[in-house]
Amino acid sequence: MHPMLNIAVKAAIRAGKLIYRAADNLDHLTVTKKSHADYVSEVDRAAERIIIEALKEAYPSHAILAEESGAQGESEYVWIIDPLDGTTNFLHGVPQYAVSIGLQHNGIMTQAVVYDPTKNDLFTATRGRGAFLNDKRLRVSKRKEMADALIGTGFPYSSFEHMDAYMGIVRDVMQKSSGIRRPGAASLDLAWTAAGRYDGFFETGLKPWDMAAGCLLITEAGGMVSDLHGSDTYLKSGHICAGNPDIHQHLLHIISPYLTPGLKG
Ligand code: IPD
Ligand code: CA
Ligand code: CA
Ligand code: CA
Repeated sequence: MHPMLNIAVKAAIRAGKLIYRAADNLDHLTVTKKSHADYVSEVDRAAERIIIEALKEAYPSHAILAEESGAQGESEYVWIIDPLDGTTNFLHGVPQYAVSIGLQHNGIMTQAVVYDPTKNDLFTATRGRGAFLNDKRLRVSKRKEMADALIGTGFPYSSFEHMDAYMGIVRDVMQKSSGIRRPGAASLDLAWTAAGRYDGFFETGLKPWDMAAGCLLITEAGGMVSDLHGSDTYLKSGHICAGNPDIHQHLLHIISPYLTPGLKG
């Protein structure tokens, strides 16, 4: 394993175990609301501290972009961290959440870890060396027809700006696919797409820390990731479409009539 990935994996597992232990005792947790339907707990912050400490100890000159504490430092290396992706699930005792850590080098994603402590699923990727679930090499699914495809998504719950377009896309995908899932942790939706569990995925209004690691998992598993337009600006726009190469194309085609100016990359 690449040494940088190794450090990130250790940090993700340590943070994940802390989150998983905390899930046994949710009643006395301090929780605050950042905006509509966006909560943060002391566990999100503690997990983030553990990860940042570990990365800074190993690589003091690297920059950090983390959900709860923001951006720190400047470097050609940037660690993009979601310490607890799926906070709403976590707060409700729903076992679908993960720690997501990605490393960007000169603007290109090079290392990725998504760790689901509820299932002990460790998804990893290094650019050019493939994606793995624990020791197993991942490939995106081979389904070619939309009618056979299972599609993951996330509801745009904290910004209703693109609601009409989103609902239109959901209706069309529902009619054309074999099903839609909304489990509630974008990093895992992407990891599951890399693993071929979903044939495709789309969402609007995501943040870089929701996507950074998961996207490298998908491309390293032979899949495609773009914005809703087919371009590569998704980390900036927050609007994302992904999947195996065939289903990614079908999804872009379904989405195209709904591309309002705000939804273009
Ligand atoms: C959220 C989850 C969810 C997605 C939201 C994200 P958080 O992350 O990834 O699936 O739909 O847009 O904000 O806040 O739980 O880290
Ligand atoms: Ca959040
Ligand atoms: Ca997140
Ligand atoms: Ca989070």
